[in-house]
Amino acid sequence: MEERSIAIDGPAGAGKSTLARMVAGHFGLIYVDTGALYRTVGLYVLESGRDTKDAAAVTEMLHTIKIDMHFDADRRQRMTLNGRDVTDLIRTPQASLAAADVSAMPPVRAFLLSMQREMAIRYDIVMDGRDIGTVVLPKAGLKVFITASPEARAQRRFKELVAKNVPATYEEVLRDILLRDKSDTEREVSPLKVAEGAVVLDTTEKSLEECFLWLCKIIEERFGL
Ligand code: DC
Repeated sequence: MEERSIAIDGPAGAGKSTLARMVAGHFGLIYVDTGALYRTVGLYVLESGRDTKDAAAVTEMLHTIKIDMHFDADRRQRMTLNGRDVTDLIRTPQASLAAADVSAMPPVRAFLLSMQREMAIRYDIVMDGRDIGTVVLPKAGLKVFITASPEARAQRRFKELVAKNVPATYEEVLRDILLRDKSDTEREVSPLKVAEGAVVLDTTEKSLEECFLWLCKIIEERFGL
């Protein structure tokens, strides 16, 4: 039910998905990552060889795409694209860029909206994205906007890439973050912004543990747990 849902929004790299996954595990909720939906549409367009910025071509392709989101025995979200599991494939930098392009197109957002709302009807969820509290679940029982300075977000992403042996420089990662912020906040449809009634968590100077405890406390208070 929407009123029992937790909506988490914020810019790329602020720690949304890590925190959403942690609180979902703690309270026995299902974590829904909506960025994965946009990534799956982006991958479909990429694989077809069409231009991911061509709104007419992308809109036409929505007639032939079948996206399914389901949860495995460990409650981990898996994505299928026309019957093929693409859970890992959607994580490439190319899929990120394609997702940013297609997410700015109103027909793509409309196409993915009902799938997201159905999740909130079917499960008790923590859902993260850019427009969850503003558009997808405006009546969510708790809305949280998680943010951090671009430099702190770039530093964290850079460390993750180094740990995975992915070649990148801090400057490149920061540039990518700033570009994504610009496209997320300046697009006409469902831009990233703080939802009415949302609580804001700035993670710049806070440890993951501090943020997690803060969120747990707010959830307990809000839902009377
Ligand atoms: O959170 P992410 O990096 O997986 O998101 C991929 C892209 O999709 C990103 O450019 C923002 C966009 N997105 C969106 O517009 N709305 C959402 N609810 C989730 C993601």
